[in-house]
Amino acid sequence: MYKIVSKEILNVDVELMTVEAPFVAKNAKPGNFLIVRVDENGERIPLTIVENDETSVTIIYQKLGYSTTMLSRMEVGDSLHDVVGPLGQPTHIREDAKRILGIAGGVGSAPLFPQLKEYARRGAHVDLVIGGRTKEHLILVDKYKQFCENIYYATDDGSFGTKGFVTQVAETLYQEKTYDLSIVIGPLIMMKNAYLLNKRYNIETDVSLNPIMIDGTGMCGNCRVTINGKTKFACVDGPDFPADGIDFDELMARQGYYKEQEKHICNLRLEPKK
Ligand SMILES: Cc1cc2nc3c(=O)[nH]c(=O)nc-3n(C[C@H](O)[C@H](O)[C@H](O)COP(=O)(O)OP(=O)(O)OC[C@H]3O[C@@H](n4cnc5c(N)ncnc54)[C@H](O)[C@@H]3O)c2cc1C
Ligand code: FES
Repeated sequence: MYKIVSKEILNVDVELMTVEAPFVAKNAKPGNFLIVRVDENGERIPLTIVENDETSVTIIYQKLGYSTTMLSRMEVGDSLHDVVGPLGQPTHIREDAKRILGIAGGVGSAPLFPQLKEYARRGAHVDLVIGGRTKEHLILVDKYKQFCENIYYATDDGSFGTKGFVTQVAETLYQEKTYDLSIVIGPLIMMKNAYLLNKRYNIETDVSLNPIMIDGTGMCGNCRVTINGKTKFACVDGPDFPADGIDFDELMARQGYYKEQEKHICNLRLEPKK
């Protein structure tokens, strides 16, 4: 069993949890994810390993549907039924990239964090554009401040930083600064638009894909993505990929494939917390 050692509410939608899982913790590298099940009948939830030490891993989850709500109902001292990992390929570090712009949208700040931190640890200059619906949705800002040289903000409602999208902020930046690489993580539509913007400014883009996953080990085929006309499995070939050649439109269509069932199970099974 995997004991929850700490829990923090980051905003109304997003929470952080640190869980004892020594094997996963010892072997995790930036870019890896894990799969948790809250109980023995639970759905498998893939989540990025945001931080790890010798014995525990930290995850950050957005309460979206049934399984993440069940996860959110667990408290410090409770145990998760299982934690499988580390899964996926560690981030491919581009040795020649010395000036990096991270672009984070919403809970995408969580998977971006270990990657940018690793680039900074290796001596790269790291800037960040972080966006969210409101000021409260800008998560991990204090942690990013520990290694980012500059942080730029965008909110949908204008409650902090620029009112608008992260791509607007990035485009303004590109008038005066040069980057070798941009790592973009957030909703698919935002990753697609940021990639198209970066392409216009000749900046390489890496993204992290989160198609629906089941086994996480390359067997079910559910997480397939088309890249340059070839099928890849995000769970074993990714989840990080260069953005060039990704069929974002296909991915967006597949992402909503189970929407009706997800809504149904949520209405059916989610009784108020006792
Ligand atoms: C490699 C990877 C890393 C991820 N890291 C994070 C993270 O760090 N923080 C975070 O908040 N979320 C992360 N996600 C997404 C997270 O797994 C889903 O939000 C979660 O599974 C939703 O489950 P639910 O039952 O609460 O919601 P549901 O109502 O079942 O689904 C809501 C939406 O979540 C997505 N989703 C549902 N099930 C899965 C699944 N098995 N695999 C992937 N996506 C799914 C779909 O887009 C769906 O429409 C990651 C996904 C992947 C594949
Ligand atoms: S989740 Fe099954 S093949 Fe990737």
